[in-house]
Amino acid sequence: MRNAYISGTGSYVPENVVTNDDLNAIYGLETDDAWIQKRTGIKARRYADVGVRTSDLALIASRHAIEAAGLQPSDIGMILFASLSQDHVFPGGGCYLQEKLGLCEGAGATFAPAMDIRTQCSGFVYGLGTAAAMVQSGAVEHVLLVGAELHSAGLDLTKRGRTVAALFGDGAGAVVVSATDEDRGIRYWKCGADGRHADQLAQKIWDTAQRPFIPTDAEGNGIVKPEMLWANMNGRLVFKNAVERMSFGLIAACQDQGITGEDIDLYCFHQANMRINQYVAQTLGIPEEKLVHNIDRYGNTTAATIPLLLDEAARDGTLKPGMKVACVAFGSGFTWGAAIIDW
Ligand code: UT7
Repeated sequence: MRNAYISGTGSYVPENVVTNDDLNAIYGLETDDAWIQKRTGIKARRYADVGVRTSDLALIASRHAIEAAGLQPSDIGMILFASLSQDHVFPGGGCYLQEKLGLCEGAGATFAPAMDIRTQCSGFVYGLGTAAAMVQSGAVEHVLLVGAELHSAGLDLTKRGRTVAALFGDGAGAVVVSATDEDRGIRYWKCGADGRHADQLAQKIWDTAQRPFIPTDAEGNGIVKPEMLWANMNGRLVFKNAVERMSFGLIAACQDQGITGEDIDLYCFHQANMRINQYVAQTLGIPEEKLVHNIDRYGNTTAATIPLLLDEAARDGTLKPGMKVACVAFGSGFTWGAAIIDW
């Protein structure tokens, strides 16, 4: 039986630590540490320097993951790049990352396919299922799956945008999904979406129903109004749906696998809000010591949260071979997904 397992993990966060107080003192955001910590559990996040792009963050995380898997970039048969903050509108960040990994020139020129995943905070779990299917089918030996975000370039740091701006940070996490005959790997994957709520957490810089898709002034310069330029979020609706979808996603995963929550050794929840995760953990009776977090340090890094958690846990020894890991995510779309991995 050909299984798909995670053969290596890697991650990267920019060096610039931005505390809640820094948001106010340095970036001029009308906010305070007590509000952010009480509502979200976030203490700090990382911001990349001007000049750095999302694919640059992804590149460092990917190199670490490929090295941890004992591979060379040229061994990668496919790249899956999950992000809502890609370098440009098109092409997708996967192509930029592919070139930066050296897959287009010299001895390592494999011209491996590169594909983007646009399911926001659930992007990594969607990608995990896609990567596993590609490997299990025999089409590919090693898939590089990366989640990377550079949110700091797209935050409205005025009072108007503070509910969203306080939440998000930059970072990248990557895994290599490889074929194995061993009895281990990605056991379960199930994702879902509810497009009725597509507008409840969205950033609509343009609208193809308009002519042209971005209004222009007399000189032909695009004019984007603030309500189109920045992300909009119905925070309370997102919170409620996140708790429900993540809880039911985990229950369904355990039922499918014929296990209970007690059989899970480590839980990697998407890091949108510490309160959401505490709600889910309390509802399902998951003990605190089985959860890993990074939202306090990195904020919400969207598609990068779960691979960042996996890499940190693998490197500090929390995550060991033989453990059963549950990953669950929820985000814009609405989209969600859960996965069970025998590490
Ligand atoms: O991956 C998915 C991404 N998103 C999420 O998961 C987010 C889910 N939602 C949430 O976590 C919560 O809705 C938030 C933490 C984002 C917001 O909490 P809330 O209790 O829904 O706050 P709110 O938007 O209703 O705002 C309450 C008050 C408002 O003041 P007034 O009108 O009551 O005077 C806001 O202006 O809090 C104010 N506020 C802030 N104050 C200080 C909003 N943002 C801030 C801020 N600092 N950053």
